[in-house]
Amino acid sequence: LKELVGLVLKASSQPMPLSHNILPRVFSFYHHWKKIYGATHLIWFGPKARLTISDPVLIREIFSKTELYEKYESHPLVRKLEGDGLLSLKGEKWAHHRKIITPTFHMENLKLMIPSMGETVTKMLDKWLDMLSSDEATVEIEVSEWFQKLMEEAITRAVFGSSYEDGKAIFQLQAEQMVFATESFQKVFIPGYRFLPTKKNRMTWRLDKEINKSLMKVIEQRREKHCCSSKLERSNECAEAEDLLEIMIRASARQPQQISTSAITLNDIVEECKGFFFAGKNTTSNLLTWTTILLAMHPEWQELARDEVFTVCGARDVPTKDDVAKLRTLGMIVNEALRLYPPAVATIRRAKVDVQLGGCKIPRGTELLVPIIAVHHDQALWGHDATKFNPTRFSQGLAWAAKHPTAFMPFGLGARRCIGQNLAILQAKLTIAIILQRFTFELAPTYQHAPTVLMLLYPQYGAPIIFRPHRIT
Ligand code: HEM
Repeated sequence: LKELVGLVLKASSQPMPLSHNILPRVFSFYHHWKKIYGATHLIWFGPKARLTISDPVLIREIFSKTELYEKYESHPLVRKLEGDGLLSLKGEKWAHHRKIITPTFHMENLKLMIPSMGETVTKMLDKWLDMLSSDEATVEIEVSEWFQKLMEEAITRAVFGSSYEDGKAIFQLQAEQMVFATESFQKVFIPGYRFLPTKKNRMTWRLDKEINKSLMKVIEQRREKHCCSSKLERSNECAEAEDLLEIMIRASARQPQQISTSAITLNDIVEECKGFFFAGKNTTSNLLTWTTILLAMHPEWQELARDEVFTVCGARDVPTKDDVAKLRTLGMIVNEALRLYPPAVATIRRAKVDVQLGGCKIPRGTELLVPIIAVHHDQALWGHDATKFNPTRFSQGLAWAAKHPTAFMPFGLGARRCIGQNLAILQAKLTIAIILQRFTFELAPTYQHAPTVLMLLYPQYGAPIIFRPHRIT
């Protein structure tokens, strides 16, 4: 590692102006070091060396060579929340799970969820309308909280379908557990903290047991229902699976009885369910929050997007799958929100063996941090207006938006890229389209623009937005 100390790889991109208004403060250190040491530099985290890599060519190499670089393991406390599923598995077992679960997230399957997604959004907006005192009134909504509740419901429906009521109770426990974890986020780095019987740790352990027990019960009930009526084989061939749980249960029933490393067991299904909630809820609600903030800041884009929604959807309350595909301006806006405010601000890989990267020898075990948010704000990749909201840059598609294909990676890259990407984009476009049909909105005077990182990228002082019912003239 000595070879790496003080190592300065040539900066591959222009210096980026530091703007506290756009970048979360926690990332300001990155700009400082980048100016001094270049786009790729080494930081010591106590005894651990961590290379920060923001050169897109090197990034592509790291994500494409899975035989050389592996996913970094989360802290055990975070891992408890993400479950031992796709998010954290490695090797053959990960590949088997990924193969089984990937088709679930194809648009053909997701489109079946559109009516229930639409219903969830309209129910939320009806509540906002009820909060208005008169027809002319406006209502101030703290959107980040509402969007978290919306996503809790949406993910529960996507995972549990017909077992929704039981699933809801389970995911509420997991939401509680996530609140504890977020509150103790800084403390998780204290060695041994997770073993201390503090009040919050004890609550987390108790919740964990309850979540596992309840999930197992729902899965067994669903399995029994299939087995007893011996419908499983038939349903495998004919019926479309209604939810993620169903797909995984069918897959587990299809495989040979002997347990191999690639078998999907009931315990695995429990862990995958936890992972979907952890990975899908706050990320997607964050995307919704930042998109709404940006549209509130830029009324001209809000107007353009609304016109598009009315042109495409006509009198339909909930856009269809075909409508969603035609909402191009809205798609550009969502991409620009993901670029400026990527919910997952960074990701980490670890060198599995000694490797050569960018002409340097990297010892086995070195951690490689890819600062997604900083790459998204790099002027050398995105032009002089890199920190400005300009959805037009996506008008010719993703491939044309930046100077390098790996410059845009809100969902990660390569084999381990986000499996829920289609679901997140569909949910975001559908939700924002329905909001635009019903309301015009602007920032509340109390809004303070201060993005901050607490596992994900949040608006530090919330997102109060003023909504006014939209009248068609
Ligand atoms: C992986 C971001 C929504 C499930 C990832 C990764 C990123 C990401 C960056 C890759 C992490 C890495 O390479 O280290 C996001 C964002 C979302 C979102 C920004 C919303 C805006 C969802 C949803 C689900 C989901 C809705 C599922 C319901 C997963 C899973 C993985 C993953 C299971 C691990 C995939 C694997 O390793 O095979 N996500 N995600 N995500 N995401 Fe998402």
